[in-house]
Amino acid sequence: MSKGFEKYIPFVPLKMEHRSWPDKQISHPPVWCSVDLRDGNQALVDPMNLQEKLEYFHTLVDIGIKEIEIGFPSASETEYEICRELIEGGHIPDDVTIQVLVQARPHLIQKTFEAIRGAKHVILHFYNSTSTLQRKVVFHMDMDGITKIATDAAKLIYELSQPVIAEGMDLRYEYSPESFMGTEMDYAVEICQAVLEDLHATPEKRVILNLPTTVENCMPNYFADELEYFISKLPSRDCAIISLHPHNDRGEGVATAEMGLLAGAERVEATLFGNGERTGNVDIVTLALNMHTQGVDSGLDFSHINRIREMYERCTKMKVGERQPYAGELVFTAFSGSHQDAINKGSQYMQESGSGKWEIPYLPIDPADVGRQYEPIIRINSQSGKGGAAFVMQHSFGFDLPKAMHPEFGHIVQVETDRVGTELQPQRIYELFKENYIDAAKPYELVRHAFAEFTDEEGHSHVTFSGTLRHKETVFQVQGSGNGPIDAFFNAIHGQKMDHFTFVDYKEHAIKQGSDSQAVAYIHLQDENGKDWFGVGMSHNINLAPLRGILSAINRAVTAKD
Ligand code: KIV
Ligand code: ZN
Repeated sequence: MSKGFEKYIPFVPLKMEHRSWPDKQISHPPVWCSVDLRDGNQALVDPMNLQEKLEYFHTLVDIGIKEIEIGFPSASETEYEICRELIEGGHIPDDVTIQVLVQARPHLIQKTFEAIRGAKHVILHFYNSTSTLQRKVVFHMDMDGITKIATDAAKLIYELSQPVIAEGMDLRYEYSPESFMGTEMDYAVEICQAVLEDLHATPEKRVILNLPTTVENCMPNYFADELEYFISKLPSRDCAIISLHPHNDRGEGVATAEMGLLAGAERVEATLFGNGERTGNVDIVTLALNMHTQGVDSGLDFSHINRIREMYERCTKMKVGERQPYAGELVFTAFSGSHQDAINKGSQYMQESGSGKWEIPYLPIDPADVGRQYEPIIRINSQSGKGGAAFVMQHSFGFDLPKAMHPEFGHIVQVETDRVGTELQPQRIYELFKENYIDAAKPYELVRHAFAEFTDEEGHSHVTFSGTLRHKETVFQVQGSGNGPIDAFFNAIHGQKMDHFTFVDYKEHAIKQGSDSQAVAYIHLQDENGKDWFGVGMSHNINLAPLRGILSAINRAVTAKD
């Protein structure tokens, strides 16, 4: 039995007669706002310096984020200077709006106005705590007192902004009732409506109402209920842009954002890889790529996720976990054999169907969409199945092994993984393939040969093979005819010691390695005991590749028996 749970007060969900959000779908992206440089930055052991913040800012711009909270300029000289450098240094593209955060306190608001002078597009974001708990244990204030803090700030902001707007700044307002999720919903509506009125919000000049789960304290469906209720009760709904700001204390930040969007939110504040206070803010990468995999254009560019991850780790000195959705080192790696087989089959199915639709089990996203490679999708270790090695051969080296050969080659690879005790890299898998099949050129060697070919009046082809073979020290001549090179060769070796094999199947395709194009032939033979033997031959000559393949299969069988 666990200890300590009795002391917690469970979240009390709203009583909803009707809710419509569960029947909705996300069909378009929200307005994205990055709070990396503020909420994310304030949660770092070593907050970013100017250079790091600038580099981070430019990455956010490149991703396509148009609203970026750059800091808390009234909080410290460093924050103020960074804000000034962004504006004066000409770092902000014309289509990007910077957002600055300030507490609902007059002297901080004044300082914030100084910090933003000269900027073209600004969102002035102010907040105060509204939750039952914060009112009780932190502020010792009733609802009216808390409302006054917000409305006084709103009035001051409106007043200070008039000359700035007259000078040409595109200045918008955002208000956050901090700890919204723990606030009585009717009171949240009341305080937000009062703020909208004091900011003179209209449908043409809408104010952003940012409704944070400052501390995620309930399941995302309860939050969505709160949101739907809030929106339905807000008198000036058409004068507000409803924004989300999920934190991730229960690990449900993404679900909170997604259900919040279903419940009517239009904007999301988030950070790359979910950096932020405690367990972080909601992860914008996951949110956007979740939409992408549902066929919705997120409007954001994560096509070079590794580059973004590298910048993030360098600037924040945080690590992106190996299993972080879409971005983690291991998320495109299948260790399990059955997963590898299914991925292999899915990839073949997609090629054959030609529908262009992504239908690969265990890979919810095409790794190429985030600039990642197919090669590391499958790692070969002792847990891998028969299809994994064949998949690597196909995707990393272009060898399309026949299905029947997969178990045999898979076994060769498995023996090697057991021997070395670690996973095998694609190059080692190729080496095993080469050593076992292509290089199986002894004891029987083809020294020289010639084909003669003619087609009769009925269109039948007749091929004669004449060649010199060597078996250890013995050199011997063979000749035979057939309806094609393979048949002719088989007939030629009839009567020799190597003739106890039956031909089962063969497959050939072209393969390009660098600028060099060759034919590769896979040969399937059976010995007198019914045992399968595979061989592989390569040559620039499409007639020679299968002969080498046959000798490869025979040599492997003979060597194994010896
Ligand atoms: O989490 C939060 O509530 C905040 C506010 C300042 C918006 O970061
Ligand atoms: Zn926050």
